[in-house]
Amino acid sequence: MKLVKLLANLGYGSRKEAQRMIRAGAVTDDSGRVLAGDDAPPHECIRVRGEPLDPPSPLVLVLNKPDGYTCSREDPGDTIYDLLPQRFACRNPGLNPIGRLDKDTTGLLLLTDDGKLLHRIIHPKSGCLKVYHATLARPLDGNEAALFASGTLMLQGETKPLLPAPLEVLGPDEALVTLHEGRYHQVRRMFAAAGNHVLTLHRISIGGLRLPDDLAEGDWRPLTAAELAAVFQ
Ligand code: URA
Repeated sequence: MKLVKLLANLGYGSRKEAQRMIRAGAVTDDSGRVLAGDDAPPHECIRVRGEPLDPPSPLVLVLNKPDGYTCSREDPGDTIYDLLPQRFACRNPGLNPIGRLDKDTTGLLLLTDDGKLLHRIIHPKSGCLKVYHATLARPLDGNEAALFASGTLMLQGETKPLLPAPLEVLGPDEALVTLHEGRYHQVRRMFAAAGNHVLTLHRISIGGLRLPDDLAEGDWRPLTAAELAAVFQ
């Protein structure tokens, strides 16, 4: 691929701006030699203003989503894209969340520019179960586990019942819920159907991947190959 196109696809600027960066000598190889705008050398050898080039596509990121950020690029308020370098929002192909979280849901969020991978993970048949930790406004009444596991629970305005969703009670007003699917506000609406109200919701795992302990709230990094494999375990 031409260096100009590569830089533009990674969001460093328009092709014109990338051309300007190259002419200004901002793009070098790992020994500091200024690169011209023709065929790009191996990705790992390229530096922009001395910094390694962003990872190529296909890319998967893991983000510890804080409260108050939406997952929609179009949203006027704070979005998860504000937590990433600005140019990441301009990558082509673009980065999308693998299963959105509500503005006030926190925890494990994956983003990718690989559409096939995204669908593989979110499809209910993938077997990539999502586990959420919910705290509730009122004590559990003991009927929730049976209701959620029934396979007959119908959310308001929907025509298809929810797949069974195991519930593990952690305390009087605290539980883990495991989902096979990802319907709009699903956990909140499930507890609303049970006469309760979710106060906080935190996603702790997707498949066999847990939110990494060393990833502080608001922090992100590329997912390792081993972590991606864990998603499918
Ligand atoms: N269920 C919800 O209600 N909200 C989320 O963000 C995720 C699952």
